Amino acid sequence: MRHLISITDLTKEEIDELIELSEKIIANPTDYQEVCRNKKLATLFFEPSTRTRLSFEAAMLELGGSILGFSSADTSSAAKGESVTDTIRTVGCYADIIAMRHSKEGAPLAASMKSMVPIINAGYGGHQHPTQTLTDLLTIQREKGKIGDITVGFCGDLQFGRTVHSLISALLRYQGIKFVLISPNELKIPGYLKDSLKHHKANFSEHEILEDVIDGLDVLYMTRVQRERFFNEADYVRLKDSYILTLDKLKAAKKDLSILHPLPRVNEIAVEVDDDPRACYFRQVLNGKYIRMALIMKLLELV
Ligand code: CP
Repeated sequence: MRHLISITDLTKEEIDELIELSEKIIANPTDYQEVCRNKKLATLFFEPSTRTRLSFEAAMLELGGSILGFSSADTSSAAKGESVTDTIRTVGCYADIIAMRHSKEGAPLAASMKSMVPIINAGYGGHQHPTQTLTDLLTIQREKGKIGDITVGFCGDLQFGRTVHSLISALLRYQGIKFVLISPNELKIPGYLKDSLKHHKANFSEHEILEDVIDGLDVLYMTRVQRERFFNEADYVRLKDSYILTLDKLKAAKKDLSILHPLPRVNEIAVEVDDDPRACYFRQVLNGKYIRMALIMKLLELV
């Protein structure tokens, strides 16, 4: 039985296979509408979510399966003090596969050690969000026609943005990626990730001003400043609007730039950018459903 806790639980070849399967699902969705008949997915969200939970649920429904679960810890027995592992052992009696989101960084791993069914980490703490990374990789593949030999800018909260951490870890396995890291000094990538970039001899640079580097980017991955991870509201207020992407700033960017954002956004991309063909973030949302269909099939050993 396989779980997905970190993006590195999948080999590069497995990721490429999931991307290929997603493309097949997109081309012929009706071929897959009975694949999970009589299978159940539980979505256990101890933290808020719109896209991840609903895309998992839509994915399972489009595969012909059923869903159950909860969207907040308050409506589960976690509110009465039940441990994550007891919850998982319980839900494993009702479901064939579980997608869970939790604020505690070790929670999905602890859950997987006690679980009778595959566990998918749907985002934990400020550390990892592997299914968002699969979504991002499928989006890069579909928008650029390839994942290697491109310059990728990461902009915003690179310290607490778990999607950034997972995506950098994944892109380190692809050839010819140039990493351009744009953040306030206080929100740079964590030390372990910088060590990993150095260990892989990655081509990377760090900057504070987006306008200094926007012209060289093929992909711009914007992120929200993660209010929920700050210890101090004053620091959040000071940093929250560090970067606001506007049409004016995009004048200097490549005509075929791809702008990604895991969403939700707050202020970091002006709404006027949404109609620019370079804005990919709502296409990215849709890709999230297809790659999760592929992942559910893989973990249930249906491919
Ligand atoms: N990208 C993402 O994780 O969005 P949600 O928090 O809405 O699930």
